[in-house]
Amino acid sequence: MLTQNQLKLAVAQKAIEFVPDDAIVGVGTGSTVNLFIEELSRIKGRIRGAVSSSEASTERLKAHHIPVFDLNAVDDVPVYIDGADEINHYLHMIKGGGGALTREKIVAAVAREFICIADETKYVSVLGQFPLPVEVIPMARSHVARELVRLGGHPEMRHGFTTDNGNIILDVHGLSIAKPVEMEETINQIAGVVTCGLFARRRADVLVLGRQNGVEVIR
Ligand code: 5RP
Repeated sequence: MLTQNQLKLAVAQKAIEFVPDDAIVGVGTGSTVNLFIEELSRIKGRIRGAVSSSEASTERLKAHHIPVFDLNAVDDVPVYIDGADEINHYLHMIKGGGGALTREKIVAAVAREFICIADETKYVSVLGQFPLPVEVIPMARSHVARELVRLGGHPEMRHGFTTDNGNIILDVHGLSIAKPVEMEETINQIAGVVTCGLFARRRADVLVLGRQNGVEVIR
């Protein structure tokens, strides 16, 4: 029986196959991505560098002497490699467990291909068991929370946490998300929401899934 960490390592290693030569690689955030950064450091001679979705990943990339580019200075990101908190069969995701959802969504928007790396515990038929993170401008906290309750959720402030953008996170419990694209659009329309952790309008293109019987690639 492989541990969750061993499954994360297996997908991090597999993801290297999706990194083209001379690329500037989009790099996500989280414990699975941390393992990917280790693997990337082994092949850093064949890439130009990375764009990063968080201060934490930037620090790790720099510690491995992988050049980190400002996204504004880059016009082509062939692949973005990131984890997920939940992913369904349509490759819609909930992300933001680490609080980096907004920058992740920006890098994903620029990237040509989104490669999600996840262990099988993240693969679900309906999204929403994992509380949905929503990044909110601090002065809008109460308003956004009331609107999320109207949508059937139970928002909880993530205490002691500020995003890299200086905002707060509301984690929304109790949503069963049958229509992820519609839900993403509805939540993103609430005044004061920066973005929610649903990645459905821009879903993953490839899922590299770590299973007990091997790594499966799902498109
Ligand atoms: C961070 C994220 C991560 O991708 C997500 O939380 C998965 O993390 P991990 O690889 O540690 O399970 O969206 O904002």
